[in-house]
Amino acid sequence: MLPPETELWNRVEQTAREVFGSFGFGEIRLPIFEPTELFARAVGSRTEVVGKEMYSFDPAKEFFAVDASLDAHPSPELTENVGESVYRIKDAFDKGDIPRTEENQQKVANLLFIFDELRKVTQSLPQESQQGSAEIFTEYRTLVDKCRTMASLIRLGNVSVSLRPEATASVCRAYIEHGMHALAQPVKLYYMGPMFRRERPQKGRYRQFYQIGAEVLEAVRKEVASGDPDRVGAERLVAGKKDAATDAEVIEMVMAFFARLGLEGVQLDINSIGHSEPPVDSKNVCRRAYVEKLKAALETVKGQLGEDSKRRIETNPLRVLDSKLESEQGIIEKLPRIGDHLCADCAKHYAEVKRQLEMRGVAYRENWRLVRGLDYYMRTTFEITARGLGSQNAVCGGGRYDGLVELLGGPPTKGIGFAIGEDRVILSLQEARKEVASGDPDRVGAGQRVASGKSGCDVYVAWMGKTAEATAIRAARDLRQAGFRVELPPVEQKFGKALGQADKLGARYALILGEDEVASGQWTLKTLADGTQGKYSEEGLLEFLRKGRN
Ligand code: HAM
Repeated sequence: MLPPETELWNRVEQTAREVFGSFGFGEIRLPIFEPTELFARAVGSRTEVVGKEMYSFDPAKEFFAVDASLDAHPSPELTENVGESVYRIKDAFDKGDIPRTEENQQKVANLLFIFDELRKVTQSLPQESQQGSAEIFTEYRTLVDKCRTMASLIRLGNVSVSLRPEATASVCRAYIEHGMHALAQPVKLYYMGPMFRRERPQKGRYRQFYQIGAEVLEAVRKEVASGDPDRVGAERLVAGKKDAATDAEVIEMVMAFFARLGLEGVQLDINSIGHSEPPVDSKNVCRRAYVEKLKAALETVKGQLGEDSKRRIETNPLRVLDSKLESEQGIIEKLPRIGDHLCADCAKHYAEVKRQLEMRGVAYRENWRLVRGLDYYMRTTFEITARGLGSQNAVCGGGRYDGLVELLGGPPTKGIGFAIGEDRVILSLQEARKEVASGDPDRVGAGQRVASGKSGCDVYVAWMGKTAEATAIRAARDLRQAGFRVELPPVEQKFGKALGQADKLGARYALILGEDEVASGQWTLKTLADGTQGKYSEEGLLEFLRKGRN
């Protein structure tokens, strides 16, 4: 990413800060990598994102690494190689990289003891053909195997880390770690930054991409969590309404953000996917029953499905609904729909989300096939698409995830959030700008809202002559302090060349400072778009430029 494109990125991020701030969200800064286990538990180890696409670093695999070419033959080199692994483990234990439990201490001691035996046997290794070599070789090999087994028994703890493929898991981890349930609820946080997924790159799909996301987390009141029957009924009613309003407000916020950016062709799809674990305020489990029905229906049409969908009948039947395969569309249309199988609480919640969206003037489309690819969702799911992106046109995905914080070891907590694909938002804005530039008359209005692409420069200071240099430096400093973007050439230039340079940079004005201007105190300012120019005193110039900015 290079200027001037980075300017557009900054504008998008600044707009997010402003819009999210106006909804009461504060920024959270998260680590780029986290224990692999966190993503496996939160997002689900069977999902594509975690199962196939994560960049993981697993030092456990590197601890006991014996050169395969040596492994078969007893030799001093092999002993040395095993020794390196053994001492790597001992060092890691001493430093605390491997948990310093009593059990581990015992095993590290055993490992060192076995290795010592191996070293002794190595010293008496005969030549391959010598008498009695077979027994010593067997003993040697047994000791290498014992080292390997002992090393594998040492509990390495959470040593595997992964580059984050998403950030909801990290936000929940932070909520627990910092005891945020004790703060005023709900806690509203936003984040932005790079995410990593090992996907096949194409337009709008990258292995390092950027998300802007937001999450609302709300600890569940004790009496509701514990199921106190006197309180639960009334609480449930209020909580149900409140959750739906929160869902709608979060969606309203993303839509307001996209509107402020002038993103085009924005389409919001919503769905409810019920729930698979009894949520804190309900005993019903409607998704599980639906998935069983769906699975049974899919079995009956299995022969007509593609390979991916066939596999998903077993691994994740809901994902079959995501299929874009032309030949499967007719079949999918006839499958049972989750909307017809929601339990009463989920159906009520969904109806209220729709009512809340309508009250907020947020247009939506119901899409019963919108299931999302991460395991933590329940009830509300949504996705937003935009123009100009081809097949990777989802610019935002999100949904409700009550129970995720609890799954990660925290207190019962509700959650709803989304993440925007910033790369895709930028692409869509750039596409819109291209169309405007090509003169499509329908699009000019939109183009005016899209960030101007050119110009990192308001004023180009063209100066010539010794006396002008000091004035030019002072003028540049004062203009910069007043908030203008100023280009000051380090050496004098002939005015013709300077104006050419100003033009190339897309500057709005050229400030011309020659000996005459310095002597008279009347500076020349040229407006580059129309070639007009005028003379101004130092203050007069600032005033003129400020007016031009408004
Ligand atoms: P997600 O649907 O996996 O959800 O990603 C959200 C958005 O990130 C997508 O709609 C897309 O715009 C963008 N995105 C995903 N993968 C790529 C890629 N390889 N290249 C470019 N853009 C990509 C989540 O990540 C959830 N954590 C959202 C969430 C937050 N749900 C609740 N809270």
